[in-house]
Amino acid sequence: MSNLHTLELTVNGQPRVAGNVRPHTTLLNWLRDQGLTGCKEGCAEGECGACAVLMARADEHGGTRLESVNACLVLMGSVAGQEVVTAEGLGHPGTLHPVQHELAVRGGSQCGYCTPGFVVSMAAEYYRPERSQTEQVTGDAHHGPNGFDLHALSGNLCRCTGYRPIQDAAYALGMPPESDSAGTDPLAQRRTQTPPMPRPTHLSTPDGDFYRPGTLAEALDLLAAHPDAKVLAGGTDWGVEVNLRHARAGVTIAVDGLPELRTLTATDRFIELGAGLNLSEIERRLGNQIPLLREWFPHFASRLIRNNATLGGNLGTASPIGDSPPVLLALDAGVVLVGPQGEREVPLADYFTGYRQTVRLPGELIRAVRIPLPLAPLTGFYKIAKRRFDDISSVAVGIALELEGDTVQRLRIGLGGVAATPIRGLKAEAALTGQVWNKENVRLAAKILGTEGTPLDDHRASSAYRAAMLEQTLLKFYFEQTTQRQEELA
Ligand SMILES: Cc1cc2nc3c(=O)[nH]c(=O)nc-3n(C[C@H](O)[C@H](O)[C@H](O)COP(=O)(O)OP(=O)(O)OC[C@H]3O[C@@H](n4cnc5c(N)ncnc54)[C@H](O)[C@@H]3O)c2cc1C
Ligand code: FES
Ligand code: FES
Repeated sequence: MSNLHTLELTVNGQPRVAGNVRPHTTLLNWLRDQGLTGCKEGCAEGECGACAVLMARADEHGGTRLESVNACLVLMGSVAGQEVVTAEGLGHPGTLHPVQHELAVRGGSQCGYCTPGFVVSMAAEYYRPERSQTEQVTGDAHHGPNGFDLHALSGNLCRCTGYRPIQDAAYALGMPPESDSAGTDPLAQRRTQTPPMPRPTHLSTPDGDFYRPGTLAEALDLLAAHPDAKVLAGGTDWGVEVNLRHARAGVTIAVDGLPELRTLTATDRFIELGAGLNLSEIERRLGNQIPLLREWFPHFASRLIRNNATLGGNLGTASPIGDSPPVLLALDAGVVLVGPQGEREVPLADYFTGYRQTVRLPGELIRAVRIPLPLAPLTGFYKIAKRRFDDISSVAVGIALELEGDTVQRLRIGLGGVAATPIRGLKAEAALTGQVWNKENVRLAAKILGTEGTPLDDHRASSAYRAAMLEQTLLKFYFEQTTQRQEELA
C-alpha cells in the first residue's frame, strides 16, 4: 500500500491525478472543483440524484458495467484507480448522446438543474446489458417497450418538468451499438473491455487518514491499530453524516473493495452473501434464488443508492428501521463476523443487543450474511412507508412460512420499526406453529402480532398505527398466499 496525499483516477476517459485530497472530500465536490459542474448538489443526502455520475465497474463476466451512483455520498478515497463518467463525458452540443438528444427533443428538461443527473441514470439503463424488449420482468417493474426500466430513475427528482416527457425520452431510446468498430460510441465498447481495478490507498492529511486496504488481513490489522476507526463500505449512511451533520473520522477504513467481503457462494446448506457487495450486484447475481430478497430489493431506496449500499452497511448501522433485518430474520440468517481471532457466525436474531448496539466486538468486521437452505417456500415482504418507493419504513415485516399439508410447520416473522432493535414476532410465530393455516387461526395470531414490540409515536407514524400495520400485514400475507394457492389448484 503506498502512502499518498494524491490519488489517480480516470474521468471521462482521461487519466487524472487528484492532489491534496482530504479524507472527507466527496467525489461531487472534487468534480465540481475540476469544472465538471454538470453534476449538482441538490440535497447532499442521496435523495435527489442531481449529483449522479457513472462508475465503470467489473461485471460478473470480466467486462465492464456502467453503474450510476450519488457522487455526493462517495468519498474521494473510495475512487482511487476507478473510472468515472459525468454528463459532460457522454456528449456535447452538436454530438449529443442519445439520452441527451431524447430528453431535449421530447421536452424532458426545463430549468435543467436535475437534467445531468437524469442523463446519467438514463445512460446507465441505456447501457445495461440485460436490457431487451423481451426481458423477464416481475412485480412492480415498469419496463417500456424498449425494455427500459423506469425504476432506474427512481433516485432522480425533477421539480419542474413533470415526469411524462422524461418517461417519453426513456422509452424512445434504442439499443447501444453491439459491435462498434467505427468507435462511434466509446462507452458501448468500454463494456467489453477490462474493468478498472480499485486501488489500495492511504491518504494521510492533517484532517485524518483514509485507508483503502487491499486484503482482509490488512484491514483487520488497521482496525486493531485504530479501534475507533470509521469502517466505510458504500457510504450511503456515512456520507449523509459527513455532509449534513459534519461528522468527521480521524481514521477511515474502506472495506467495500476487500475481495473477502465480495464473495457470493452457495453450498447445499446455505447461500452466503459478501458484506461488501452492493445490493444491485446481489440482486443481479442471485436472480430468483431467494424470492424474498428479490421481492425486497426494489423497496430499498433507489437504484442510485442500491448501486453502493451494502448488506454489511445496513447491519453495521444496527438501525431499528433498517430494511434488511426483517427480511433476513424471516430467512433465519446468520451474520459472519471476522476478527483477529478468526470467524464466528451469530444468528441475526442474537446480533442486536440494544438501540444501535450489536454483539460485534471492536476489531471485528461483518464479512458476510449466511442464509440457510432449504428456504421456506412461502414468503412475503411488507414495507409501510409514506411513499411506495424510495422512502424510510415506518414498519417493515418479512414473513417466511413452511406448511405441511395445512399445518404450520415453521414460521418466521421479522419486524422492523416496532422496537429499539429489529425483532422476531415470537409470540405470533408460537401461536401459529403446529396449528392449521386458516383464517380463524391467522386472525388470532394477527391480533397477537399487533402487540409485539414497543412501537413509538414519532413523525413517521403513531404507535397505534404501527401496531395496526403489524396485524394487517399477517392478514394480507394470508390472503395473498391463499389466493395464490387457489390459483395454482385451479
Ligand atoms: C436516500 C437514501 C435512502 C435510503 N433508503 C434506505 C432504505 O430504503 N432502507 C434501508 O434500510 N436503508 C436505507 N438507507 C440507508 C443506507 O442506504 C443503508 O443503511 C445501507 O445499507 C448502508 O450501506 P453502506 O454500505 O452504504 O454503509 P456505510 O455508510 O458505508 O456504513 C454504514 C455503517 O455500517 C458500518 N459498516 C459498513 N460495512 C461494515 C462491515 N463490513 N463491517 C462492520 N461495519 C460495517 C459503518 O462503519 C457504518 O457505521 C438509505 C440511505 C439514503 C441516503
Ligand atoms: S445531491 Fe441530492 S442525491 Fe446527491
Ligand atoms: S428541469 Fe427543473 S428540476 Fe428538473
